[in-house]
Amino acid sequence: MKKTRLPLFLMLLLGCVTSCQNSEIASNPFQIYDEDVPALPDNVVKTSPKTNHSTRVNPQADVSGIPNFDGGVRTARFLKANIKQPYVALTFDDGPHRVHTIKILDVLKKYNAKATFFVLGSNVKRYPQIVRRIANEGHEVANHSWSHPFFTKLNEAGLRKQLGDTNFIIESTTGQKVRSMRPPYGDTSRSIDALMANQYGLTPIMWSVDPNDWKRPGVQVVVNRVLSMTRPGSVILLHDIHASSAQAVEPIVKGLIQKGYKLVTVNQLRAIANQELKSSIQTSPIPSKSAQPSLQKAMQMGGY
Ligand code: NI
Repeated sequence: MKKTRLPLFLMLLLGCVTSCQNSEIASNPFQIYDEDVPALPDNVVKTSPKTNHSTRVNPQADVSGIPNFDGGVRTARFLKANIKQPYVALTFDDGPHRVHTIKILDVLKKYNAKATFFVLGSNVKRYPQIVRRIANEGHEVANHSWSHPFFTKLNEAGLRKQLGDTNFIIESTTGQKVRSMRPPYGDTSRSIDALMANQYGLTPIMWSVDPNDWKRPGVQVVVNRVLSMTRPGSVILLHDIHASSAQAVEPIVKGLIQKGYKLVTVNQLRAIANQELKSSIQTSPIPSKSAQPSLQKAMQMGGY
């Protein structure tokens, strides 16, 4: 009995600590590096490269919506937007793929939905015409590295090459500036985030809805997971290199639209979040106690 009581006690204690931390994160819609707030990087669980792509960040971290600030303020990672309006962002990693990405683009066009494609530089080199189509149809093309390494295992030169070469090939292929970055496996650190933001103009984008499509649990399972987990502001993680993921896109898009959601790019979602934030500040001259330090700092730094 004693053996079982101790772990239970520890579990309860840990549960309390975790929930206390999360309620603090949840009450603070901003995270800026200078502040003494719980760091998200610790929540990242790394998986073996052999097991595959996605990674799971501590699901509790999903409670933290982090609007980005324009104007040179460097922020933490964007997991989802804290918004009331029913906008969500579908994101596709690891492509483009010569068959599946095309199929997904056809579906998005049919429903007039926009999405974000976190592409690998090496795949942009192989399929520049698909990347141009993505951009021409109003979707966002974003950086997912050149060859999908673990970022925390690279030295600075290696990291710069992954970021810089991929930005360059996307920008020279599409003519559009790259603004969003998703580190492979979600593997990053504060200093890597700072390098991405300060030197490459990239905001680290994570996700808040992960149906684990890369494990291929079946099309309907992926669809059901996405439809049940999505909330206003969600960033949904899918991979456009799997046939089953591509098949899930039409029922997902259809289902989200039926629920009243509008599908936008990550950039658009961030802009909507900032807009809602600005109007909430205008309508409530005294911000909530928990938001005050961040708000003052953001304003001092020219975030508004
Ligand atoms: Ni990936």
